[in-house]
Amino acid sequence: MSHLLDLEGVSKRFGGVQAVDQVDFHADQGEIVGVIGPNGAGKTTLFNVVTGFYGPDSGKIRFDGNNLVGLKPNQITKVGIARTFQAVRLFGAMTVLENAMVGQHPRTRAGVFGALFHTSSTRSEEERVQAKAGAALDFFGDRLSPRLNSLASELAYADRRRLEIARAMATEPKLLLLDEPAAGMNPAEKDGLIELIGRLRDEKGYSIVLIEHDMPVISGVSDRVVALDYGKKIAEGTYEEVAANQQVIEAYLGKSATQGQT
Ligand SMILES: Nc1ncnc2c1ncn2[C@@H]1O[C@H](COP(=O)(O)OP(=O)(O)O)[C@@H](O)[C@H]1O
Ligand SMILES: [Mg+2]
Repeated sequence: MSHLLDLEGVSKRFGGVQAVDQVDFHADQGEIVGVIGPNGAGKTTLFNVVTGFYGPDSGKIRFDGNNLVGLKPNQITKVGIARTFQAVRLFGAMTVLENAMVGQHPRTRAGVFGALFHTSSTRSEEERVQAKAGAALDFFGDRLSPRLNSLASELAYADRRRLEIARAMATEPKLLLLDEPAAGMNPAEKDGLIELIGRLRDEKGYSIVLIEHDMPVISGVSDRVVALDYGKKIAEGTYEEVAANQQVIEAYLGKSATQGQT
């Protein structure tokens, strides 16, 4: 069976830094894959090359029958990959509903406003975009839907993180890439996130790749875990296997003195 997402020998260098180094990586239909590794390991860069934010220097990336190398981010959204960002990226001066609609117009902010308010070809197109955003927001129960017209900047932090996931969901992806969704959350919110990620797979049918530093979250949701260090894949297996891997332990111990958010 072929993998839903399949990377072979993918590399990406920035100047003197080999951010991603000959990585083989895959995610199957319905699978939740956890990606761990110290800061600077190349986790976010892996997402950036999959989503077309950067082209890989070498390697193959295939998704659901498509070759992704050379595609632009909006084309990759269309084939069914959506992501969230490590640092929340919302438009604080736009409403909750507008932010949830933005993902379906993966362009510049000016393009978004044009699409939403001025140059949109038909009302029905706008209504479709709005309906998908509304459905995505409804998935979060009473967290977001009662606040459709609130500004994103007025939301509590955990709700802003939920809104980012809703924005990704509104593009109706097959694969969801989550970059450190638990960052900044308290323990109760992390428990809620574990439940939410399970529901995203079980109820929405998404396959999910999750970058996370929080080990209870990783062990709580992942079918398989991949560890990166200095751009290389150093371990892969169940959470228990990867957590017991000597190279993984050393990667974390070696970095713990200098650990800081990047
Ligand atoms: N746009 C960029 N320009 C230069 N260096 C970058 C860029 N993006 C990432 N890097 C470097 O690539 C390495 C991997 O970064 P990143 O993928 O963000 O790691 P992680 O998400 O695992 O913390 C780091 O050394 C980082 O400084
Ligand atoms: Mg990162």
